[in-house]
Amino acid sequence: MDQDLIHTLINIFVAPPAVLALFLFLRPYLYLNRRLSLFKTLLSEDVAGKVVLITGASSGIGEHLAYEYARRGACLALVARREYLLREVAAISELLGSPNAIAIPGDVTKVEDCERFVNATIEHFGRLDHLVANAGVAPVSLIEDASDITRFAPAMDINFWGSVYSTYFAIPHLKRSKGKIIAISSCAAWLPAPRMSFYSASKAAVLAMFETLRIELAPDIGVTIVTPGVIKSEMSEGKFITQRGRLEVDEEMRNVMVNIVPVESAEECAKAIVKGACRGEKYVVEPSWYNSLLLWKVFCPDAIEWTNRFFLVCSRALVKR
Ligand SMILES: NC(=O)c1ccc[n+]([C@@H]2O[C@H](COP(=O)([O-])OP(=O)(O)OC[C@H]3O[C@@H](n4cnc5c(N)ncnc54)[C@H](OP(=O)(O)O)[C@@H]3O)[C@@H](O)[C@H]2O)c1
Ligand SMILES: *[C@@H]1O[C@H](CO)[C@@H](O)[C@H](O)[C@H]1NC(C)=O
Repeated sequence: MDQDLIHTLINIFVAPPAVLALFLFLRPYLYLNRRLSLFKTLLSEDVAGKVVLITGASSGIGEHLAYEYARRGACLALVARREYLLREVAAISELLGSPNAIAIPGDVTKVEDCERFVNATIEHFGRLDHLVANAGVAPVSLIEDASDITRFAPAMDINFWGSVYSTYFAIPHLKRSKGKIIAISSCAAWLPAPRMSFYSASKAAVLAMFETLRIELAPDIGVTIVTPGVIKSEMSEGKFITQRGRLEVDEEMRNVMVNIVPVESAEECAKAIVKGACRGEKYVVEPSWYNSLLLWKVFCPDAIEWTNRFFLVCSRALVKR
């Protein structure tokens, strides 16, 4: 039979019943999920004495993830480029209850660094239970304002490839411990906001990558994908890759981009992430009200587009450059 005819037949005879089947399936599925939620609470993982590697632990969400794991008694391997900050975070983590926290300076865009910090973790602690791929940067620019388009490549190099490299070297060790990967994506992965195109694309790549890895690595390794909203950190304080292509603090752009939405504390966000990871959740959306926007995006993407278009027009008037 002609292939195109097959598609026409599927469109007419298979797709509508499939949608109907979804609606029938949805009620028992949601009911079962609620029951399962109770089990997840009862069987939540105790990370005391276990080993957690966090990339991007020198500030913001990563720093507070270290403190939250520390309060639960986990040993920590902390990675980022600024060693002096990592050392402070490690010291505070030990005060908060971590039996041992080490600082390993490294750049996640360098594949040899990723191999080295995973190795160093294993050499020091002998095992790895959670990998938190959190290191990230945010380019903020309209594509037409970019003075040198190649300057925005770090979004992919750090946010996407950095997470992939770290994961690649951690997999054998996580398999042995039946461990977990916690990938920090962003609501920007599906919420298109003007000036965030490069960032959104890199975070959508993280989402797609780790959804696929969840299938490839099951049942040995669990994957929790986190999509935070706007969280207080150096990033939300205005440290962006600006339209000049440099990582610098841009107060004016910060006020335009961040002032319009409520900002959650990094403590609160880190608590939700660690809780979700220990419960073995597939997704953590924090704050959870962003889920309501996702419904709008799925069922009425035009509404999201109009609102953001309106925001773009208003913000253009505010940004003088
Ligand atoms: N804040 C938000 O509103 C928000 C929302 C959604 C998602 N997120 C995501 O959350 C994650 C953490 O960001 P944050 O908000 O906490 O911002 P942040 O305070 O700027 O933290 C970013 C961290 O990543 C590290 N990092 C950057 N480039 C690196 C590299 N090449 N190699 C190793 N480490 C690197 C930074 O340390 P060094 O500079 O010392 O290397 C820092 O520790 C990011 O993936 C971000 O995209 C944030
Ligand atoms: C990491 O450890 C593996 C296995 O022990 C070894 O083959 C590799 O050379 C090490 N890599 C680095 C960068 O230390």
